[in-house]
Amino acid sequence: MQLAKLPPCIDDFRAVPHSDQGCFAVSHFARAILDMSDPAQYAGVRRPVEQATPLPNWCYNSAEFYALEVERIFKKAWNYVGHASNLPNPGDYFTHEITGLPIVLVHGHDGVIRAFHNACRHRGAPIASGAGNCRHFACPYHSWTYATTGTLFATPLIDEDENLRHADLSLLPVRLERWHGFLFVTFDNDAMPLMEWLGDLPENCAVYGPENMVCTRRVSWDVAANWKLHFENFNDSLHIPFIHGGTLNRQKVSGRKRSTHEEMRGQCITHFTAHEGSRGLMNGQTGFDTIPTLSGRYLNGTYYPCILPGTMMGWTIDCMWIFELHPTGPESVRVVGASFFPEAATNRNDFEEVAERYYQRMDAILPEDNVAVEMQQAGLRVPVQAAAKFTHMETLCHAFDNWIVDQVTTA
Ligand code: FES
Ligand SMILES: [Fe+2]
Repeated sequence: MQLAKLPPCIDDFRAVPHSDQGCFAVSHFARAILDMSDPAQYAGVRRPVEQATPLPNWCYNSAEFYALEVERIFKKAWNYVGHASNLPNPGDYFTHEITGLPIVLVHGHDGVIRAFHNACRHRGAPIASGAGNCRHFACPYHSWTYATTGTLFATPLIDEDENLRHADLSLLPVRLERWHGFLFVTFDNDAMPLMEWLGDLPENCAVYGPENMVCTRRVSWDVAANWKLHFENFNDSLHIPFIHGGTLNRQKVSGRKRSTHEEMRGQCITHFTAHEGSRGLMNGQTGFDTIPTLSGRYLNGTYYPCILPGTMMGWTIDCMWIFELHPTGPESVRVVGASFFPEAATNRNDFEEVAERYYQRMDAILPEDNVAVEMQQAGLRVPVQAAAKFTHMETLCHAFDNWIVDQVTTA
């Protein structure tokens, strides 16, 4: 690694080599002048998993590295933002931010779900906030008013003329594509089609009937940890007996390895855990019927495809869920837990009563993970590269770290 020359007055801040693993302890000040897109920074991550080191500490707390991720990951990726069943009626909308970039999703009165940049074409104020149902969007600043299709149709006190034509000032669209009801947006108009990004995930999930899934609840937690720690935690089966000793760990899984690391096409990291019963319930509880189209291994286990960068899915025998990671800064993330059930289950008279058991399970286990990643975030502030190993139960974390390196080192 080549360090930029430092002025003598800040010599104490010079980065120093740490161990023989190619990692460096770097002060906050010196970190700012490192070239974080230089592949040499990540030589340890690139090694085979047995010899590899995790990403350097500063990847989890540096504002500069976070800015690099926004540019090279979140502005380019297909980001999952919600499900069509969250917008069932014309006029339904919700606002959202992807790493601070505001958008609004709306079910138009013409029946089409669209995404727009949440900024008025007059002078840029957000035209919507929160979520709800509307006939149109009226900007709170000077009341320019837009149809739910994005068309500007009123500019109070200001008449149209050759310099101000409503037709030229529609809300600016954000590219949105969908896999069944699952809605994804990208800010990159040159990005590959969504279905290419997903690779063979749609084919692998087809047995669960993704076209029949309905999102029945979304809850969120604000967590004081870098978003990547939550992704890694989801793909780390080693923590389960220790972090979830009284909850998830009571549901026995087969074998010490606990899960399989599965290669697939597309921008995904995937594993499968074999076990009995539903992974959506606490041990001993009963719930909804098994999805009738399941066969083979899918009858006895849970499929966990994670769509990069921040969408973590669990498909089990009677339901599915998504943990959405929405970074809010280098050391903070909003985690959304979204619960899905087959439409047939949602039509049962006792749906709410039974679904409550699944919600309680999520509300018990996800906070345990939040505690774990906040604890790890605190430790990663040490000024040396303490985190040094992946075990054979963390190969997915290694794959994820390599994907991060692929993105941040590519313009
Ligand atoms: S900024 Fe929206 S109407 Fe002026
Ligand atoms: Fe966990």
